[in-house]
Amino acid sequence: MAFVSEAPLVSRLTRRGRLMAKRTCDRRGHAFALGRFLFRTPTAWEYAAAVACGSDPDAQRWLGWLPGSVVAEPMRTEALRVTPGTGPEWTKPDPQSVDVVAIDLTAGRCAGLVSVHAGEDGGPETGGYLAPGYRGHGFGRELFAAGLVLAHEHLGLSRVRAGAEVGNVASGRSLEAAGLRRVAGPPHYTLPNGRAGAAWWYQHDVAWPRQCGGPQAQWLSVS
Ligand SMILES: CC(C)(COP(=O)(O)OP(=O)(O)OC[C@H]1O[C@@H](n2cnc3c(N)ncnc32)[C@H](O)[C@@H]1OP(=O)(O)O)[C@@H](O)C(=O)NCCC(=O)NCCS
Repeated sequence: MAFVSEAPLVSRLTRRGRLMAKRTCDRRGHAFALGRFLFRTPTAWEYAAAVACGSDPDAQRWLGWLPGSVVAEPMRTEALRVTPGTGPEWTKPDPQSVDVVAIDLTAGRCAGLVSVHAGEDGGPETGGYLAPGYRGHGFGRELFAAGLVLAHEHLGLSRVRAGAEVGNVASGRSLEAAGLRRVAGPPHYTLPNGRAGAAWWYQHDVAWPRQCGGPQAQWLSVS
């Protein structure tokens, strides 16, 4: 994917302009900048774009979503073209996951998604994915660093874990580059489609986590 420049001045008088300029969290959602990306609770269209970011066969090799969750072509290409800041409010978030979309402000594209969700043991886990055009450039480090920021500085979680299927070197190296360390964990990881694979586990801890004014992960016990 080519990184197409967009005019940098977005009017704050429009809803899109306000969304793109927002960098603080409120009860409607999270918003923070990290590295190349703005991470934000998505609009419905941005969420559709984010789902498309992980729907290609290469990503599904590792993500293993249920078939009904995967966006097929030609919708996938169409959804990847969504203009960030457009679309209605996202009304059906997964009740057991706090998701933020990675927005590339320079290119004016949704580039991926990172979440903090309940893992198999009920404890907080982070995970995510990038759109095909954003893989292989080291952006995975920023994506997973954003997962840590979300967990520790927004959701008040002192510990967050992540699992990667053995062999997913790009994921494992990106998690470690973001600051997570390898730890022991259950030998297998079960994907949403039921496929189980051998797992590497990672963890990150902070002593003094914080909560922001954004939606909190009530289903997780804050440790
Ligand atoms: C996982 C993901 C977020 C990683 O982000 P990324 O920016 O594409 O990661 P990169 O390709 O830059 O790889 C990170 C590192 O692993 C190395 N690497 C990647 N694949 C490798 C391989 N097969 N063998 C050896 N090294 C490899 C890269 O060279 C890079 O090394 P560096 O740290 O020395 O620069 C992204 O690839 C993705 O979205 N994948 C699809 C979905 C997915 O797997 N999600 C995670 C599920 S747990």
